[in-house]
Amino acid sequence: MSEDSVDFSAPDVIADPFPALGRLRESDPVHWHCGMRSWCLTRYADLTAVYRDPRFSAQRIRNFVTDHGGQNPDLELLGECVGLWMVFNDPPTHTRLRKLTQQAFNRKSMEKMRPVIARQVEHLLQEFGDAGQVDFVDRLAWPLPANVIADLLGVPREHVEDLKRWSDDLGQFVLTSRINEDKYQVAARGLKNMNALFADLIKHKRANPGNDVIDELIAASDGSDTLSAQELIAFCVLLLFAGHETTAHFLASGLRALVRHPDQMLKLRAGLNDPALVANACNEMLRFDGPIVAISRHVSEDLEFGGSRMKHNDRVYLFHGAANRDPRVFDRPDDFVIDREEAGRMIGFGYGIHLCLGIHLARLEGEVAFPIILRHLNNIELPGPEPQWTDTLVIRGPKSLPIRFTN
Ligand code: HEM
Repeated sequence: MSEDSVDFSAPDVIADPFPALGRLRESDPVHWHCGMRSWCLTRYADLTAVYRDPRFSAQRIRNFVTDHGGQNPDLELLGECVGLWMVFNDPPTHTRLRKLTQQAFNRKSMEKMRPVIARQVEHLLQEFGDAGQVDFVDRLAWPLPANVIADLLGVPREHVEDLKRWSDDLGQFVLTSRINEDKYQVAARGLKNMNALFADLIKHKRANPGNDVIDELIAASDGSDTLSAQELIAFCVLLLFAGHETTAHFLASGLRALVRHPDQMLKLRAGLNDPALVANACNEMLRFDGPIVAISRHVSEDLEFGGSRMKHNDRVYLFHGAANRDPRVFDRPDDFVIDREEAGRMIGFGYGIHLCLGIHLARLEGEVAFPIILRHLNNIELPGPEPQWTDTLVIRGPKSLPIRFTN
Protein backbone atom coordinates (compact mmCIF):
# COMPACT_ATOMS: atom_id res chain seq x y z
CA MET A 1 0.00 0.00 0.00
CA SER A 2 1.27 3.45 -0.82
CA GLU A 3 0.27 6.92 0.25
CA ASP A 4 -2.19 8.71 -2.02
CA SER A 5 -0.32 10.99 -4.32
CA VAL A 6 -3.31 12.48 -6.12
CA ASP A 7 -6.41 14.13 -4.72
CA PHE A 8 -8.69 13.81 -7.74
CA SER A 9 -11.22 16.23 -6.28
CA ALA A 10 -8.69 19.07 -5.78
CA PRO A 11 -9.63 22.03 -8.00
CA ASP A 12 -6.17 22.26 -9.59
CA VAL A 13 -6.26 18.53 -10.48
CA ILE A 14 -9.77 18.87 -11.97
CA ALA A 15 -8.57 21.84 -14.03
CA ASP A 16 -5.41 20.09 -15.23
CA PRO A 17 -5.03 16.43 -14.19
CA PHE A 18 -2.06 15.71 -16.47
CA PRO A 19 0.89 16.74 -14.25
CA ALA A 20 -0.44 14.69 -11.31
CA LEU A 21 -1.25 11.72 -13.55
CA GLY A 22 2.21 11.95 -15.10
CA ARG A 23 3.88 11.86 -11.67
CA LEU A 24 1.83 8.81 -10.75
CA ARG A 25 2.72 7.09 -14.04
CA GLU A 26 6.43 7.61 -13.49
CA SER A 27 6.62 6.93 -9.74
CA ASP A 28 3.93 4.37 -8.92
CA PRO A 29 2.26 3.04 -12.08
CA VAL A 30 0.16 0.44 -10.24
CA HIS A 31 -1.02 2.62 -7.37
CA TRP A 32 -3.47 1.72 -4.59
CA HIS A 33 -5.50 4.84 -3.85
CA CYS A 34 -6.62 4.60 -0.24
CA GLY A 35 -9.22 7.36 -0.53
CA MET A 36 -10.94 5.78 -3.53
CA ARG A 37 -10.17 2.23 -2.35
CA SER A 38 -9.16 1.48 -5.93
CA TRP A 39 -6.14 0.70 -8.06
CA CYS A 40 -4.98 3.48 -10.37
CA LEU A 41 -3.11 2.32 -13.47
CA THR A 42 -1.39 4.89 -15.62
CA ARG A 43 1.06 3.26 -18.08
CA TYR A 44 0.00 2.59 -21.67
CA ALA A 45 1.31 -1.00 -21.68
CA ASP A 46 -0.51 -1.77 -18.42
CA LEU A 47 -3.81 -0.38 -19.69
CA THR A 48 -3.70 -2.36 -22.92
CA ALA A 49 -2.71 -5.50 -20.96
CA VAL A 50 -5.70 -5.08 -18.63
CA TYR A 51 -8.08 -4.42 -21.53
CA ARG A 52 -6.94 -7.72 -23.08
CA ASP A 53 -7.16 -9.71 -19.85
CA PRO A 54 -10.56 -11.35 -19.16
CA ARG A 55 -9.80 -11.43 -15.41
CA PHE A 56 -10.55 -7.70 -15.42
CA SER A 57 -14.31 -7.54 -15.75
CA ALA A 58 -16.41 -4.77 -17.29
CA GLN A 59 -19.45 -5.95 -15.35
CA ARG A 60 -19.27 -3.21 -12.78
CA ILE A 61 -22.84 -1.97 -12.56
CA ARG A 62 -24.54 -5.12 -11.30
CA ASN A 63 -21.86 -5.59 -8.62
CA PHE A 64 -22.29 -2.00 -7.53
CA VAL A 65 -26.07 -2.30 -7.29
CA THR A 66 -25.82 -5.56 -5.36
CA ASP A 67 -23.43 -3.91 -2.90
CA HIS A 68 -25.36 -0.63 -2.51
CA GLY A 69 -28.93 -1.44 -3.60
CA GLY A 70 -30.61 -2.52 -0.38
CA GLN A 71 -34.03 -0.97 -0.28
CA ASN A 72 -33.32 1.74 -2.84
CA PRO A 73 -35.78 1.29 -5.75
CA ASP A 74 -34.08 4.02 -7.81
CA LEU A 75 -30.79 2.18 -7.70
CA GLU A 76 -32.54 -1.13 -8.49
CA LEU A 77 -34.11 0.42 -11.61
CA LEU A 78 -30.79 1.92 -12.69
CA GLY A 79 -29.10 -1.45 -12.25
CA GLU A 80 -31.76 -3.27 -14.28
CA CYS A 81 -31.53 -1.01 -17.31
CA VAL A 82 -27.91 0.13 -17.24
CA GLY A 83 -26.90 -3.45 -16.39
CA LEU A 84 -28.13 -4.41 -19.90
CA TRP A 85 -25.63 -2.08 -21.59
CA MET A 86 -22.94 -3.95 -23.51
CA VAL A 87 -20.28 -1.69 -22.03
CA PHE A 88 -21.05 -3.10 -18.58
CA ASN A 89 -21.06 -6.76 -19.65
CA ASP A 90 -18.44 -9.42 -20.31
CA PRO A 91 -18.56 -12.23 -22.89
CA PRO A 92 -20.70 -14.06 -23.75
CA THR A 93 -23.40 -11.41 -23.11
CA HIS A 94 -21.17 -8.66 -24.47
CA THR A 95 -20.29 -10.69 -27.59
CA ARG A 96 -23.95 -11.29 -28.33
CA LEU A 97 -25.00 -7.63 -27.93
CA ARG A 98 -22.04 -6.39 -29.94
CA LYS A 99 -22.77 -8.84 -32.79
CA LEU A 100 -26.38 -7.73 -32.97
CA THR A 101 -25.55 -4.03 -33.10
CA GLN A 102 -22.18 -3.41 -34.74
CA GLN A 103 -23.32 -3.73 -38.33
CA ALA A 104 -25.41 -0.59 -37.91
CA PHE A 105 -22.35 1.36 -36.73
CA ASN A 106 -19.64 0.28 -39.14
CA ARG A 107 -17.74 2.87 -41.16
CA LYS A 108 -19.84 2.34 -44.27
CA SER A 109 -23.15 2.74 -42.45
CA MET A 110 -21.90 5.89 -40.73
CA GLU A 111 -20.76 7.51 -44.00
CA LYS A 112 -24.40 8.28 -44.76
CA MET A 113 -24.29 10.68 -41.80
CA ARG A 114 -21.59 12.86 -43.44
CA PRO A 115 -23.99 15.28 -45.20
CA VAL A 116 -26.31 15.30 -42.19
CA ILE A 117 -23.44 16.35 -39.90
CA ALA A 118 -22.18 18.97 -42.37
CA ARG A 119 -25.66 20.52 -42.63
CA GLN A 120 -25.98 20.60 -38.86
CA VAL A 121 -22.61 22.30 -38.39
CA GLU A 122 -23.38 24.89 -41.10
CA HIS A 123 -26.74 25.58 -39.50
CA LEU A 124 -25.35 25.99 -35.99
CA LEU A 125 -22.57 28.28 -37.27
CA GLN A 126 -25.06 30.40 -39.16
CA GLU A 127 -26.91 30.90 -35.89
CA PHE A 128 -23.73 32.46 -34.42
CA GLY A 129 -24.52 35.39 -36.72
CA ASP A 130 -22.15 38.35 -36.56
CA ALA A 131 -21.99 38.28 -32.77
CA GLY A 132 -18.21 37.91 -32.79
CA GLN A 133 -18.42 36.14 -29.45
CA VAL A 134 -20.35 33.00 -28.38
CA ASP A 135 -20.11 30.14 -25.94
CA PHE A 136 -18.86 27.37 -28.23
CA VAL A 137 -20.02 24.61 -25.85
CA ASP A 138 -23.54 25.94 -25.60
CA ARG A 139 -23.95 26.86 -29.26
CA LEU A 140 -22.18 24.04 -31.10
CA ALA A 141 -20.34 21.37 -29.10
CA TRP A 142 -23.42 20.30 -27.07
CA PRO A 143 -26.19 20.59 -29.66
CA LEU A 144 -24.32 18.94 -32.55
CA PRO A 145 -23.80 15.40 -31.17
CA ALA A 146 -27.27 15.28 -29.62
CA ASN A 147 -28.90 16.31 -32.90
CA VAL A 148 -26.78 13.84 -34.85
CA ILE A 149 -27.73 10.90 -32.64
CA ALA A 150 -31.36 11.97 -32.69
CA ASP A 151 -31.26 12.05 -36.50
CA LEU A 152 -29.48 8.73 -36.60
CA LEU A 153 -32.13 7.08 -34.45
CA GLY A 154 -35.04 8.93 -36.02
CA VAL A 155 -35.99 10.79 -32.81
CA PRO A 156 -38.10 13.84 -33.69
CA ARG A 157 -36.28 17.15 -33.07
CA GLU A 158 -38.81 18.41 -30.54
CA HIS A 159 -37.64 15.70 -28.10
CA VAL A 160 -33.93 16.43 -28.33
CA GLU A 161 -33.77 19.05 -25.55
CA ASP A 162 -35.60 16.72 -23.14
CA LEU A 163 -33.38 13.78 -24.09
CA LYS A 164 -30.23 15.81 -23.47
CA ARG A 165 -31.47 16.84 -20.04
CA TRP A 166 -32.46 13.30 -19.07
CA SER A 167 -29.17 11.93 -20.33
CA ASP A 168 -27.33 14.45 -18.15
CA ASP A 169 -29.44 13.33 -15.18
CA LEU A 170 -28.49 9.71 -15.83
CA GLY A 171 -24.86 10.79 -15.91
CA GLN A 172 -25.09 11.50 -12.18
CA PHE A 173 -25.14 7.75 -11.68
CA VAL A 174 -23.01 6.39 -14.50
CA LEU A 175 -20.28 8.99 -14.29
CA THR A 176 -19.97 8.87 -10.48
CA SER A 177 -20.82 12.46 -9.65
CA ARG A 178 -18.80 13.65 -6.68
CA ILE A 179 -21.19 16.37 -5.57
CA ASN A 180 -24.83 15.47 -5.83
CA GLU A 181 -26.47 13.95 -2.75
CA ASP A 182 -29.65 12.72 -4.51
CA LYS A 183 -27.84 11.43 -7.56
CA TYR A 184 -29.72 8.10 -7.73
CA GLN A 185 -33.11 9.78 -7.63
CA VAL A 186 -32.12 12.31 -10.31
CA ALA A 187 -30.56 9.60 -12.50
CA ALA A 188 -33.54 7.24 -12.15
CA ARG A 189 -35.93 10.05 -13.13
CA GLY A 190 -33.89 10.74 -16.27
CA LEU A 191 -33.80 7.05 -17.11
CA LYS A 192 -37.57 6.56 -16.67
CA ASN A 193 -38.25 9.47 -19.00
CA MET A 194 -35.86 8.18 -21.65
CA ASN A 195 -37.23 4.64 -21.39
CA ALA A 196 -40.76 5.95 -21.96
CA LEU A 197 -39.74 8.03 -24.97
CA PHE A 198 -37.81 5.21 -26.66
CA ALA A 199 -40.54 2.65 -25.88
CA ASP A 200 -43.05 4.89 -27.73
CA LEU A 201 -40.66 5.49 -30.60
CA ILE A 202 -39.91 1.77 -31.04
CA LYS A 203 -43.62 0.92 -30.95
CA HIS A 204 -44.20 3.50 -33.67
CA LYS A 205 -41.27 2.18 -35.72
CA ARG A 206 -42.46 -1.42 -35.51
CA ALA A 207 -45.78 -0.29 -36.98
CA ASN A 208 -44.18 2.09 -39.55
CA PRO A 209 -40.76 0.72 -40.54
CA GLY A 210 -38.27 3.17 -42.11
CA ASN A 211 -34.51 3.09 -42.57
CA ASP A 212 -33.14 4.71 -39.41
CA VAL A 213 -30.71 2.92 -37.13
CA ILE A 214 -33.61 1.91 -34.85
CA ASP A 215 -35.23 0.14 -37.80
CA GLU A 216 -31.95 -1.66 -38.49
CA LEU A 217 -31.66 -2.67 -34.85
CA ILE A 218 -35.24 -3.94 -34.75
CA ALA A 219 -34.48 -6.06 -37.82
CA ALA A 220 -30.96 -7.10 -36.68
CA SER A 221 -30.60 -10.78 -35.96
CA ASP A 222 -27.95 -13.40 -35.48
CA GLY A 223 -29.50 -16.71 -36.49
CA SER A 224 -32.73 -16.81 -34.51
CA ASP A 225 -31.43 -14.31 -31.95
CA THR A 226 -32.66 -10.70 -31.84
CA LEU A 227 -32.56 -7.87 -29.31
CA SER A 228 -35.42 -8.07 -26.79
CA ALA A 229 -37.64 -5.00 -26.39
CA GLN A 230 -35.91 -4.16 -23.09
CA GLU A 231 -32.45 -4.58 -24.62
CA LEU A 232 -33.39 -2.37 -27.54
CA ILE A 233 -34.62 0.42 -25.28
CA ALA A 234 -31.54 0.11 -23.07
CA PHE A 235 -29.31 0.25 -26.15
CA CYS A 236 -30.94 3.45 -27.42
CA VAL A 237 -30.40 5.05 -24.02
CA LEU A 238 -26.77 3.86 -24.10
CA LEU A 239 -26.21 5.37 -27.54
CA LEU A 240 -27.51 8.74 -26.53
CA PHE A 241 -25.62 8.65 -23.31
CA ALA A 242 -22.31 7.34 -24.69
CA GLY A 243 -22.34 9.46 -27.81
CA HIS A 244 -23.47 12.83 -26.57
CA GLU A 245 -21.30 14.23 -23.81
CA THR A 246 -18.15 12.46 -25.04
CA THR A 247 -18.38 13.97 -28.51
CA ALA A 248 -19.32 17.39 -27.11
CA HIS A 249 -16.15 17.41 -24.98
CA PHE A 250 -14.08 16.17 -27.92
CA LEU A 251 -15.18 19.16 -30.00
CA ALA A 252 -14.77 21.71 -27.19
CA SER A 253 -11.45 20.46 -25.79
CA GLY A 254 -10.19 19.96 -29.36
CA LEU A 255 -10.95 23.55 -30.35
CA ARG A 256 -9.44 24.80 -27.08
CA ALA A 257 -6.21 22.90 -27.75
CA LEU A 258 -6.00 24.36 -31.25
CA VAL A 259 -6.57 27.94 -30.10
CA ARG A 260 -3.98 27.57 -27.34
CA HIS A 261 -1.42 26.31 -29.87
CA PRO A 262 -1.49 28.93 -32.66
CA ASP A 263 1.26 27.18 -34.67
CA GLN A 264 -0.86 24.00 -34.81
CA MET A 265 -3.96 26.03 -35.67
CA LEU A 266 -2.07 27.53 -38.60
CA LYS A 267 -0.85 24.12 -39.72
CA LEU A 268 -4.39 22.76 -39.68
CA ARG A 269 -5.84 25.78 -41.46
CA ALA A 270 -3.24 25.29 -44.19
CA GLY A 271 -4.16 21.60 -44.51
CA LEU A 272 -7.95 21.67 -44.33
CA ASN A 273 -8.21 20.02 -47.74
CA ASP A 274 -6.05 17.10 -46.60
CA PRO A 275 -8.40 14.52 -45.02
CA ALA A 276 -5.48 12.51 -43.62
CA LEU A 277 -4.13 15.55 -41.75
CA VAL A 278 -7.57 16.44 -40.40
CA ALA A 279 -8.08 12.84 -39.22
CA ASN A 280 -4.66 12.84 -37.55
CA ALA A 281 -5.39 16.18 -35.89
CA CYS A 282 -8.61 14.71 -34.44
CA ASN A 283 -6.65 11.75 -33.03
CA GLU A 284 -4.15 14.16 -31.52
CA MET A 285 -6.95 16.17 -29.88
CA LEU A 286 -8.28 12.95 -28.35
CA ARG A 287 -4.80 11.93 -27.20
CA PHE A 288 -3.83 15.31 -25.78
CA ASP A 289 -7.02 16.12 -23.85
CA GLY A 290 -9.66 13.51 -24.65
CA PRO A 291 -13.08 13.27 -23.01
CA ILE A 292 -12.49 9.98 -21.20
CA VAL A 293 -9.93 10.40 -18.44
CA ALA A 294 -10.50 7.05 -16.77
CA ILE A 295 -12.41 3.81 -17.29
CA SER A 296 -12.97 1.26 -14.54
CA ARG A 297 -12.81 -2.51 -14.37
CA HIS A 298 -13.34 -5.05 -11.59
CA VAL A 299 -10.92 -7.78 -10.64
CA SER A 300 -12.80 -11.07 -11.04
CA GLU A 301 -10.34 -13.30 -9.11
CA ASP A 302 -7.31 -12.82 -6.84
CA LEU A 303 -4.34 -12.11 -9.07
CA GLU A 304 -0.97 -10.47 -9.36
CA PHE A 305 -0.43 -7.54 -11.69
CA GLY A 306 2.65 -5.36 -12.12
CA GLY A 307 4.13 -6.73 -8.90
CA SER A 308 0.98 -5.96 -6.86
CA ARG A 309 -1.54 -8.39 -5.45
CA MET A 310 -5.08 -7.52 -6.45
CA LYS A 311 -8.09 -9.09 -4.76
CA HIS A 312 -11.34 -10.40 -6.16
CA ASN A 313 -13.76 -7.43 -6.51
CA ASP A 314 -11.06 -4.74 -6.29
CA ARG A 315 -11.80 -1.78 -8.54
CA VAL A 316 -9.22 -0.68 -11.08
CA TYR A 317 -9.18 2.75 -12.74
CA LEU A 318 -7.42 2.82 -16.10
CA PHE A 319 -6.26 6.37 -16.66
CA HIS A 320 -6.37 7.15 -20.38
CA GLY A 321 -5.31 10.69 -19.47
CA ALA A 322 -1.97 9.28 -18.29
CA ALA A 323 -1.48 6.47 -20.83
CA ASN A 324 -2.10 8.80 -23.77
CA ARG A 325 0.85 10.86 -22.55
CA ASP A 326 3.15 7.95 -21.78
CA PRO A 327 6.62 8.87 -23.10
CA ARG A 328 7.27 5.17 -23.79
CA VAL A 329 4.78 5.45 -26.67
CA PHE A 330 4.47 9.15 -27.52
CA ASP A 331 7.44 11.37 -28.26
CA ARG A 332 7.35 14.65 -26.21
CA PRO A 333 3.89 13.61 -24.98
CA ASP A 334 2.91 16.92 -23.39
CA ASP A 335 3.25 18.74 -26.71
CA PHE A 336 0.20 19.11 -28.94
CA VAL A 337 1.33 18.23 -32.47
CA ILE A 338 -1.45 17.66 -35.00
CA ASP A 339 0.75 15.75 -37.46
CA ARG A 340 2.53 13.53 -34.93
CA GLU A 341 3.04 10.06 -36.37
CA GLU A 342 1.90 8.07 -33.35
CA ALA A 343 -1.35 10.00 -32.77
CA GLY A 344 -3.36 7.02 -34.08
CA ARG A 345 -2.08 4.88 -31.21
CA MET A 346 -4.00 6.90 -28.63
CA ILE A 347 -6.52 4.88 -26.66
CA GLY A 348 -9.13 7.60 -26.23
CA PHE A 349 -11.78 5.26 -27.67
CA GLY A 350 -10.77 2.40 -25.38
CA TYR A 351 -9.09 -0.79 -26.48
CA GLY A 352 -9.95 -4.46 -27.02
CA ILE A 353 -13.42 -5.94 -27.15
CA HIS A 354 -15.12 -2.82 -25.76
CA LEU A 355 -13.48 -0.45 -28.25
CA CYS A 356 -16.00 2.36 -28.74
CA LEU A 357 -18.88 1.21 -30.94
CA GLY A 358 -19.44 4.82 -32.01
CA ILE A 359 -15.81 5.36 -33.07
CA HIS A 360 -16.66 5.92 -36.75
CA LEU A 361 -19.47 8.32 -35.95
CA ALA A 362 -17.42 10.30 -33.40
CA ARG A 363 -14.46 10.53 -35.79
CA LEU A 364 -16.73 11.59 -38.62
CA GLU A 365 -18.25 14.34 -36.47
CA GLY A 366 -14.79 15.76 -35.74
CA GLU A 367 -13.49 15.33 -39.27
CA VAL A 368 -16.53 17.03 -40.77
CA ALA A 369 -16.99 19.71 -38.09
CA PHE A 370 -13.47 21.12 -37.65
CA PRO A 371 -12.86 22.08 -41.30
CA ILE A 372 -16.26 23.78 -41.54
CA ILE A 373 -15.73 25.59 -38.23
CA LEU A 374 -12.26 26.82 -39.21
CA ARG A 375 -13.46 27.97 -42.63
CA HIS A 376 -16.26 29.99 -41.02
CA LEU A 377 -14.46 31.43 -38.01
CA ASN A 378 -11.21 33.38 -38.23
CA ASN A 379 -8.89 34.73 -35.55
CA ILE A 380 -10.47 32.57 -32.85
CA GLU A 381 -9.50 33.62 -29.31
CA LEU A 382 -10.42 32.44 -25.83
CA PRO A 383 -11.31 35.66 -24.01
CA GLY A 384 -12.71 34.22 -20.79
CA PRO A 385 -11.07 33.01 -17.62
CA GLU A 386 -9.98 29.35 -17.50
CA PRO A 387 -13.05 27.12 -18.01
CA GLN A 388 -14.94 25.29 -15.31
CA TRP A 389 -14.54 21.54 -15.85
CA THR A 390 -17.03 18.68 -15.48
CA ASP A 391 -17.04 17.23 -12.02
CA THR A 392 -16.61 13.51 -12.64
CA LEU A 393 -13.63 11.25 -12.50
CA VAL A 394 -14.46 9.50 -15.76
CA ILE A 395 -15.22 12.22 -18.22
CA ARG A 396 -13.54 15.59 -18.75
CA GLY A 397 -14.56 18.66 -20.69
CA PRO A 398 -15.13 22.39 -20.26
CA LYS A 399 -18.62 23.35 -19.05
CA SER A 400 -18.42 26.44 -21.23
CA LEU A 401 -15.94 27.80 -23.77
CA PRO A 402 -16.48 31.45 -24.71
CA ILE A 403 -14.75 32.22 -28.01
CA ARG A 404 -14.14 35.48 -29.89
CA PHE A 405 -13.77 35.39 -33.66
CA THR A 406 -14.12 37.30 -36.91
CA ASN A 407 -16.19 36.00 -39.82
C1 HEM B 1 -15.18 11.37 -28.98
C2 HEM B 1 -16.24 10.69 -28.63
C3 HEM B 1 -16.21 9.37 -27.92
C4 HEM B 1 -15.28 8.87 -27.07
C5 HEM B 1 -13.98 9.52 -26.59
C6 HEM B 1 -15.73 7.55 -26.67
C7 HEM B 1 -15.03 6.71 -25.82
C8 HEM B 1 -15.42 5.42 -25.52
C9 HEM B 1 -14.65 4.50 -24.68
C10 HEM B 1 -13.33 4.84 -23.99
C11 HEM B 1 -15.32 3.33 -24.63
C12 HEM B 1 -14.88 2.04 -23.91
C13 HEM B 1 -15.52 1.88 -22.56
C14 HEM B 1 -14.99 0.68 -21.79
O1 HEM B 1 -14.08 -0.04 -22.24
O2 HEM B 1 -15.51 0.44 -20.69
C15 HEM B 1 -16.53 3.49 -25.42
C16 HEM B 1 -17.49 2.52 -25.60
C17 HEM B 1 -18.68 2.73 -26.27
N1 HEM B 1 -19.05 3.86 -26.97
FE1 HEM B 1 -17.95 5.54 -27.23
N2 HEM B 1 -16.93 7.29 -27.28
C18 HEM B 1 -17.26 8.38 -28.07
C19 HEM B 1 -18.37 8.51 -28.86
C20 HEM B 1 -19.36 7.58 -29.02
C21 HEM B 1 -20.51 7.71 -29.87
C22 HEM B 1 -20.78 8.88 -30.81
C23 HEM B 1 -21.28 6.60 -29.67
C24 HEM B 1 -22.60 6.18 -30.26
C25 HEM B 1 -23.17 6.62 -31.28
C26 HEM B 1 -20.59 5.75 -28.71
C27 HEM B 1 -21.04 4.53 -28.27
C28 HEM B 1 -20.30 3.66 -27.50
C29 HEM B 1 -20.77 2.33 -27.12
C30 HEM B 1 -22.11 1.71 -27.47
C31 HEM B 1 -19.74 1.75 -26.36
C32 HEM B 1 -19.72 0.36 -25.73
C33 HEM B 1 -18.93 -0.59 -26.61
C34 HEM B 1 -18.75 -1.97 -26.01
O3 HEM B 1 -18.91 -2.14 -24.80
O4 HEM B 1 -18.45 -2.91 -26.77
N3 HEM B 1 -19.44 6.38 -28.34
N4 HEM B 1 -16.55 4.77 -25.96
